[in-house]
Formats: sequence, C-alpha cells, structure tokens
Amino acid sequence: MNQSEIRNFSIIAHIDHGKSTLADRLIERTGTLTAREMAPQVLDSMDLERERGITIKAQAVRLEYEYQGQRYELNLIDTPGHVDFTYEVSRALQACEGALLVIDAAQGVEAQTLANLYLALEHDLTVIPIINKIDLPNANPERVQEELIEIGLDGTEAILVSAKQGIGIDETLAAIVSRIPPPVGNPEAPLRALIFDSRFDSYKGVLVYIRVVDGSLHVGDKIQFMATGASFEVTEIGVFRPHPTTVSSLSTGEVGFFAASIKTVQDTRVGDTVTLADHPAKEALPGYRPAQPMVFSGLYPVDTSDYGRLREALEKLQLNDASLTFEPETSAALGFGFRAGFLGLLHLDVIQERLEREYNLSLITTAPNVVYQVRLVTGEEIRVDNPALMPPAGDIEEIREPMVSASIITPSEYIGAVMELAQERRGIYKDLSYIDSQRAMLSYSLPLGEIMFDFFDQLKSRTRGYASFDYQWSGFAPSDLVRLDILINGEVVDAFSMIVHRDKAYYRGRTLVEKLRDLIPRQLFEVPLQAAIGGRVIARETVKAMRKDVLAKCYGGDITRKRKLLEKQKEGKKRMKAVGNVEIPQEAFMAILRVD
Ligand code: GTP
Repeated sequence: MNQSEIRNFSIIAHIDHGKSTLADRLIERTGTLTAREMAPQVLDSMDLERERGITIKAQAVRLEYEYQGQRYELNLIDTPGHVDFTYEVSRALQACEGALLVIDAAQGVEAQTLANLYLALEHDLTVIPIINKIDLPNANPERVQEELIEIGLDGTEAILVSAKQGIGIDETLAAIVSRIPPPVGNPEAPLRALIFDSRFDSYKGVLVYIRVVDGSLHVGDKIQFMATGASFEVTEIGVFRPHPTTVSSLSTGEVGFFAASIKTVQDTRVGDTVTLADHPAKEALPGYRPAQPMVFSGLYPVDTSDYGRLREALEKLQLNDASLTFEPETSAALGFGFRAGFLGLLHLDVIQERLEREYNLSLITTAPNVVYQVRLVTGEEIRVDNPALMPPAGDIEEIREPMVSASIITPSEYIGAVMELAQERRGIYKDLSYIDSQRAMLSYSLPLGEIMFDFFDQLKSRTRGYASFDYQWSGFAPSDLVRLDILINGEVVDAFSMIVHRDKAYYRGRTLVEKLRDLIPRQLFEVPLQAAIGGRVIARETVKAMRKDVLAKCYGGDITRKRKLLEKQKEGKKRMKAVGNVEIPQEAFMAILRVD
C-alpha cells in the first residue's frame, strides 16, 4: 500500500463514553464485517473482558475505506482503558498518527479524557474530538464544546456523533482521512517496527503486533528484537479485518502481526523494536522500558496439593502476559504459595479471577501491598514486596514508598469533600483549576498504598458518583512507615502483616482486630486477637468459644434444612485456611483493605 493512503489511529476516551461502540460502527460502516457478523464490541475478545466491560489488551483492525474516489487503509489500534496499563496505551499511541477523543455529550470532559489527551499530545498525534451520545435527552454538546476550548482543543472541530444510532459515522471516517497525516518513515531504511502488543497462540506461538516504522517485513525474514537480542524466522504475517487474514508482507507505515515460532511473550516486550538480524537498524525506537510491577499479593492454594497446578497456571498466564511476575514464597500461616507482582489492582483482579475460573483453583489471596524501597543502617538498599519481610525498625534508615500524581475532576460543590479525602490519605495538594463554570480539577501527589484502600469508592460516594479520577506513577518518596502485625492465638500471622504510616498505625490496628473478631468464626476454644507494632501490643479482642453444635437447633427438624446448613458450611470451608488450629476465612485476609 502506498504510504499516502494509510492512516493509523486510536480511539481514546474516559470509561463508558462509548469507545467500543464507536469502533463497532466504524467496522460496520466500512463493510469490514457485515451487520450479521457483528457482535457488540467485537474488539473485546475475551469473555472476561466482555463481562466486565473493559478492554485489557490492545488490538488492531484494518479497515478499507473509499473517500472521494480514493481507497484508503485505516488501521484502528485499540488501547486498554485502565490506568494500570498506561504504558501499553502509550505504546499503542506511538504506533498512530492520530486519535479520536470520544467525550460523552451528557458527562463532558472527565479525568481519563484529560489523561488520554495528554498522552496523545505527548506523541504529537492529531486529535479529533468526538462528542458522542448526542441522542441522549440530557446531551449538552454546546457545553462540551466549551469544555474542549477550556482544555486547549478547538471545540468547533468536534464531530457530533451517536455511535448507538449510527449518526456522524461518515463524518468521522472523512475526518480520519482528511485530518490525520499519513505515516512518515523511510521504506529504504533497515527495518524498524514497534511492538505494541503480543499474545500467545497455542498453534503459532506468540503473535507479535507491530507498526512498521521504517523498511518492510516479509515472510521468511530473520528478525531480531533489539532489547532482548533474541532472533527468530518469520513464519507468517497477517492483519486483522477483524479476523486474522494472512498477507505476504507489511510495508512502511503498516500495522499487523507476525508469528515466528516464539515460545513466550517474555521475548516480545511491548515497546521493543523489531529489526532484521542480517541488516539491523542502528538505533532502536525511543521510549522502551520493561514493565515494573507495583502491586504484590500472596497467592496460596486452599488445598495444599494444588500447589503444582497453581504454578502451572501462573506459567501459562505468563506466556501471554509479560508484566505478570511470580516467585515461590512460604508463609508460616498459609504454607507454600507464590508472591505475584502486578501492574496495578485491576491487573491483579483479572489474574485472580482467571486462575479461579479458567484453572479451577481455589485460592487464598493476601491483601495486596505496594513495593517499598528500604535503605538499611548498613547503607544497603533493598526492595521489600512483602510486608512480613520488612526488617525490624532498628535496622532501617529510611523507607520510601511509591507515589502517584493524581487528577480528580469534580463538580465545584464537592471540592471540600475531595480535599478532605485526599488529606486523610496523606495527599499533598498541588493545584486547583476550573474546567468550566461548574467543574474543577484538583491535582494531588498521593501514596499509591493509600489509594489501594478503597479510595475510588470513597471518592465516588463522597461526590455522589460525580467525580472522576486518574493517576500516573511519579516515583518513590520517603515516609514514616511502620510494620503492623496481627497475632492470632499468640502467634504472628505473617499474611496479615502490613506497612502503615505511623500516625495511622494505632487506629488501623485497633479497627482491624475488631473486624477480625467479627469475621473469624467461633472455634471450640477462645481465640485472642492482637495488633502489635514492633513487638508492642496495641490492641486486643477475643473470639469467644463456640457454645453448641451448629446442628443442635435442627434436632427433630426438617432434614432438608439440615442438609442446607451442612452445604453452607462446606461452601464456607472452601475459602477457609487453618492457621495453627484456627480456621480463617478468605474475607479476613481482605479485611485489611477495608479498614478506615
Ligand atoms: P470501556 O471499554 O468500558 O471504557 O467503555 P467504552 O468507552 O468502550 O464504552 P462502550 O462503547 O462500552 O459504551 C458504554 C455505554 O454507552 C454502553 O452502554 C453503550 O451502549 C452506550 N453508548 C455508546 N454510544 C452511545 C450513544 O451514542 N448513545 C447512547 N445513548 N448510548 C451510547
């Protein structure tokens, strides 16, 4: 394809503003799929994604479109919508020249609208504002146009669309061709292609999604990954329409995938550059960095004999997910398991759910924690990804925790409530500005560990659901942190240990033992629960001993009721872990997260 007839673009939006629906309409209108073949949101391929209504992995679809008598190849690169995957979004945007910025006509500009816009501008993309859902009775496109001007875009250039009703779709396609520039790149130069995604296919090995920046790629070429140095021979090249279709080559500016009998996605890092082994490019494309897990959690099989199956499942998931890390870990309380690292909380949630659903594993997961940088009095620097392994206070010179820079958009009347919440979570105020006459944007620097504790839920409830929130990692900062331990029956339960700010340690410890008292079922004996900081007990509660057999009240009663009760108990058992001789339910391990 002639370079001047190619357009590469993404759709970016705040969650639920209609990105997937618009993508569906573009696919349908260009005849890429017939109406009969269309399933809603064809780009969200995994069941899990469809159920949760989120897009986890970027994909690319080639559309053919005729405009003013000329045929064009439009490559739509889908971006993940969640902050955990910001790096993947940024690589997908780097593969494009333009972006459609979708804004809900009733909701207006939200936190992720801005975060995505800034990412697009960082990559010098041409941004086409799309005001979507104009069919809604409370749509207010004029107000959105004003907000666009406020954030530095030309509101008059926005296209009015109803993705649901198919209004404004032709105008959108025309704008993609006429406003977004064709790719620049040198067809004569040695191959340089950007990897923006990859996934494992059990027949072909890893499929590597690329955007060719310079040169071209052909079946049979011997390629090399510039970051890892690994070499492979290309066995197949294809594009998505949206079903995979084989082609013989990809030329400068084009987007597609290749297979080369690659066994694991660890070799194909998002952001890495593909070149030819025999004729390599001198310099890799800019911006590559390996994925850094920020959030860690212990994964333990409820049934210890499932340990091997858990390892196999994690290895399988890792084939397709280079950002998932795990290593064996032993907990005095929970036995043999793994400490797994994730990009963020959503990533963790998705992996846990897949382990249970696709691999049929019953797991006890410890409350997630962030990673800490610790300088010991000896001068040695260590990383601590498990609170139970935090060295004793006397050995520590300084603890640094990961920070994020957060932006929160809220109606002005809730500014006070938002500030209060940010302050409770140790936020450092940075800035306040207005998006329009009724809405403000607050900027804060916040510890990542503090927003894991139901920050988003709190924000929503304190602003009646009106505030939106987005954040990016901003590095590590020193903080006065201590380890809080929980003792059950006199023994420290390592899976309950957590790192908290000194000012909050008493309160957290006290509330946590109160919570645990309610969550841990009565045993045949009395169970003391204690919270301790540095070996000093600061709170104590007791789980009273069980008084009588649970079935006692069923004597003489109806047998089905008895069976139901037994089944309920069995169900409960699935999620219990015996710690010493005390049975602890899964909810107890997560209670740490909800103490506030
Ligand atoms: P995420 O992938 O979760 O970020 O969402 P998204 O931005 O892809 O939004 P999606 O396309 O899933 O649409 C969100 C909701 O808005 C769905 O219920 C759509 O049916 C609805 N929707 C999308 N476009 C329109 C529109 O033009 N009008 C109306 N009334 N509803 C729309």
